[in-house]
Amino acid sequence: MLKIVFATQNPNKLQEIKAMLPDGIELKGLDNLDLNEDIPETQDTLEGNALQKARYVYERFGVNCFADDTGLEVEALNGRPGVHSARYAGDGKDSNANMDKLLNELKNSDNRRAQFRTVIALIIDGEELLFNGIAEGVIIDEKRGKDGFGYDPIFVPKGYKETFAQMPLKEKNRISHRFKATQMLADYLMSLNYF
Ligand code: IMP
Repeated sequence: MLKIVFATQNPNKLQEIKAMLPDGIELKGLDNLDLNEDIPETQDTLEGNALQKARYVYERFGVNCFADDTGLEVEALNGRPGVHSARYAGDGKDSNANMDKLLNELKNSDNRRAQFRTVIALIIDGEELLFNGIAEGVIIDEKRGKDGFGYDPIFVPKGYKETFAQMPLKEKNRISHRFKATQMLADYLMSLNYF
């Protein structure tokens, strides 16, 4: 059995990723580690932030671990909001404000192409690896749907007519950036000699 720590302070994320990983991988949260502060996330790329969080846990506790970071990258905005997706409209603003800002910036743009990208940084036995999960799509010009979170109501994945917020969660999770990155992580872990 391979024990691995997911360096996140978000219990929902832990449950979500736990459900995506195969049996035989024992996924732990940070609960049993003596961590009383927020894990720093101060880099200007998704890769940088994911690595920073994983290194923080590895250096302090010496456990095999991984961390993730996700952003929405809009082609016409040179990849913004990207690493700033969570607080795009400013500190204390919600997802609605973030989407309004983005829709406003794209008001006169014909190029609506965008992608969600999740980077997972894994540190195992001191070795660092990055996994990159991408969901391509377009930003529509209004919010549609009630499910999901973040930018889901304005993102239509490639090959679909509905936004992520209009899809059953099960369907979103089958094609999402996070799912793809997690699959790559799972495939890699299963290929190791722990099993
Ligand atoms: P995080 O790195 O997973 O915390 O994601 C950073 C930000 O990206 C979130 O606060 C959301 O605004 C946005 N985001 C990440 N994943 C999704 C998604 O699946 N749908 C919509 N927005 C997302």
